[in-house]
Amino acid sequence: MRVVVILISICKIAHASIFPADQEKCQYGDSKCIIRVANNVISKASQGYPELGLPVFDPLKLRSLDIEQGGNSPVNLKIHLRNFELIGLSNTKFISIQGFNKDYDNARMELKFNIPSWQIFGPYKIDGRVLILPVAGNGIANLTSYNNEITMKLLTKKVIKQGKEYMQIEKSRLVYVTDRVAFDFTNLFNGNKLLSETTNRFFNENWKQIHEEIKPKLYEAIASIYESLINKVFAAIPYDDMFIQGGSA
Ligand SMILES: *[C@@H]1O[C@H](CO)[C@@H](O)[C@H](O)[C@H]1NC(C)=O
Repeated sequence: MRVVVILISICKIAHASIFPADQEKCQYGDSKCIIRVANNVISKASQGYPELGLPVFDPLKLRSLDIEQGGNSPVNLKIHLRNFELIGLSNTKFISIQGFNKDYDNARMELKFNIPSWQIFGPYKIDGRVLILPVAGNGIANLTSYNNEITMKLLTKKVIKQGKEYMQIEKSRLVYVTDRVAFDFTNLFNGNKLLSETTNRFFNENWKQIHEEIKPKLYEAIASIYESLINKVFAAIPYDDMFIQGGSA
């Protein structure tokens, strides 16, 4: 089942926005230029960029995320996060962008980017078992992932709204590699200090195996977050208005 993470942050966008004059326009498919613009937008936009349809995205407020990892796996966990935050996206740095050509209907694109660290922070409930250790609790969770190298593949399509042509992501897939994930769950076992410390230590000592089991859901969640942010930008401005038109290229 596809994880859909709902962004709470919304921003009022003027319909039929025009491409901001302070952003460089690129030739279609000019990946160096597009990387430059994307990084510039990210560095300016963490507190929102209404002209480009972007809400405040650092921290990004999110409604819910359910990670239910079970079956016969040694990691059998249900983690439910509600009204939580994702912190760190403003440090996204694009390193490679392929696509954004003139023809974007049914087109494949690929983005590679780094984030030095991201944190999922907020109210959680957890229930399950890791190896032989039972786990239960509810409180505040902090999952921090360090040195993330993310690859996102997109399938895009053309949509027409009020006679104008826009790009929309039809499907996306995301994977990342990380150096380390740190877990901190407050109030495990109704606040039993010893069990809480033991369990958090166990999570951190076994982070690789635990992350391995929960990462498919994290991949999907983070894909859906980037997908909705990118879609907001491309829903704000007709695709061709973002690129140099009628150049000699
Ligand atoms: C989450 O944990 C990381 C690593 O321990 C820490 O650096 C960060 O400040 C914590 N985040 C919050 C919001 O407390």
